[in-house]
Amino acid sequence: MISHSSARWVYIAVCFVCNPEQYGVESPDMKVQTKQLKTDFLIIGSGAAGLLAASRLAPHGQVMLVNKGEFRDSSTWNAQGGIAGVSSDKDSFESHVQDTLNAGAGLCHEDVVRAIVSRGTEIIEELVEIGTRFDRQDGELHLTKEGGHSSRRIAHAKDATGRAISEALLSLVAPHRNVRRLEQHTAIDLITSRRLGQNYDQRCLGAYVLNPVGKVMAIAARFTILATGGVGKVYLYTSNPHAASGDGIAMAWRAGCSMMNLEFIQFHPTCLFHRQGSNMLLSEALRGEGAHLVDQKGRRFMFDYDKRGELAPRDIVARAIDHEMKKQGVDCMYLDARPIGDVEIADHFRNIHGRLLELGLDMTQEPVPVVPAAHYLCGGIRADVHGRTDIEGLYAIGETAGTGLHGANRLASNSLLECLVMADCCASDVLKQPQTPVSPVPVWDESGVVPETERIQIKQNWDEIRATMSHYVGIVRSDERLRRARRRLRLIQEEIDSYYWKHPVSRDLLELRNLALIAELIVQSAQQRHESRGLHYSTDYPETDELAKDTVLKPDDT
Ligand code: FAD
Ligand code: SIN
Repeated sequence: MISHSSARWVYIAVCFVCNPEQYGVESPDMKVQTKQLKTDFLIIGSGAAGLLAASRLAPHGQVMLVNKGEFRDSSTWNAQGGIAGVSSDKDSFESHVQDTLNAGAGLCHEDVVRAIVSRGTEIIEELVEIGTRFDRQDGELHLTKEGGHSSRRIAHAKDATGRAISEALLSLVAPHRNVRRLEQHTAIDLITSRRLGQNYDQRCLGAYVLNPVGKVMAIAARFTILATGGVGKVYLYTSNPHAASGDGIAMAWRAGCSMMNLEFIQFHPTCLFHRQGSNMLLSEALRGEGAHLVDQKGRRFMFDYDKRGELAPRDIVARAIDHEMKKQGVDCMYLDARPIGDVEIADHFRNIHGRLLELGLDMTQEPVPVVPAAHYLCGGIRADVHGRTDIEGLYAIGETAGTGLHGANRLASNSLLECLVMADCCASDVLKQPQTPVSPVPVWDESGVVPETERIQIKQNWDEIRATMSHYVGIVRSDERLRRARRRLRLIQEEIDSYYWKHPVSRDLLELRNLALIAELIVQSAQQRHESRGLHYSTDYPETDELAKDTVLKPDDT
């Protein structure tokens, strides 16, 4: 049973109802150290989704842009391959739609696919206008290719596209006087009218946020936008940065939002297998430009699995690598980039090449060891293209949202596009809403907590969750493995829950609590799907049902 209510919330609500004046919001020019702040728009997360939403909303009110690490700790910053969109006469919008639907294995929401894909050209043009330096050839955008795409349609800035996009978006947001950026601030939980015991409709009133010196601030906002990215840290091996612990999803669930299709975790086929670089991604664009997947003896094996070879959609390639590793009893397969040629490697893939050289691997000379690793969450907080969730005043955008765009498997390079289209639609929707005043919110309650004594427990639980998910809820699943995972995760959750309410909050503890919840929600979703489709493969249900159905979890049903 997943608990989403707590003694602490009851206490906060009772104090608030008895003595609301004590908790009134103070003036907006308060210092960060104070316990209460207010803003028009609270945006949690400063990846592509959060940054674009901030830049769209800043002309219309005060924006508070919160992120829990350094600016670079986002998946956006780390994105390599590029952003998909139709930018060539040889390509068509319809072909991008069909490729997205094919990759999604029958589960994409076609209306969402059309709404997002149709804006690719315009979004890429806007990125160019704001200073993103995409690669060009003869004056035109240089377009690369990745698995599942039937045309070259991926705009890229060498192999560091995310960094180029992040810097361009930041240049819009950073100088704006209406934007206040709070780095090293970790959102804890959402404040909702229902949690405060108010009788009117369920509405989000802001969030509690932990600042870098360990104080919890109550931030009251007219609108709250979750742009907190993915959940890769729930697995041992992931391409994701440290920040990807699914905080937004866990917060939304505890506040009462439903979740969609959480079982569809995309494993990227080619992460480096190396002691010192275990989360380094080797972009799919390498395969798009000609790299081969081979085993230790140099044999290309992908054509045994799919006629598209190395450029089959990711679910097929990751499963093939996993299968070969198990069949041959080895720890990795290899990516042979030599067919691309030294000149192209040194130019297009200069960052990857440089980082590998630092690890003593030269991809112009030899194949590089790779394994599949958790990369992307195709589902998320159930939301429409505008990011609207089940709770009024609360939006979810980017990877944290489950819109139905990706269905059961995301087409490569569609997610940066989704982030930016959603951020734009979300801002338009927010600005159409009645601009009601900010409601007062109570301060955080830490009465009854005692200083931490055993930090080792946090580390142990963290390792156990990630090992459980990797061993039992990976690329190939079964009823028995899911049952085992659920049993273990439930125990860990109970331990964390009892620890959480007795100790002061810290970023580690918050992330651990969120990871444990996310892990259980992923398992629950996987248990509800009695078929194999896209990224969810079960040995007990190898067939695909004729009727494709979303998995929806609602907090009240658990
Ligand atoms: P993110 O960019 O992940 O940002 C999340 C933000 O939320 C961060 O600022 C984080 O600090 C903040 N945050 C999280 N929790 C909290 C909290 N509790 N409190 C405060 N702040 C919080 N997609 C493509 O389309 N093309 C690519 O080429 C591509 N390459 C990729 C390469 C890598 C290595 C990875 C990991 C992903 C790649 N993806 C790619 C996927 C894509 O980058 C992401 O899906 C996308 O960038 C997500 O953007 P976002 O804005 O939703 O979240
Ligand atoms: C990559 O460059 O392989 C990542 C692309 C993506 O995840 O869309």
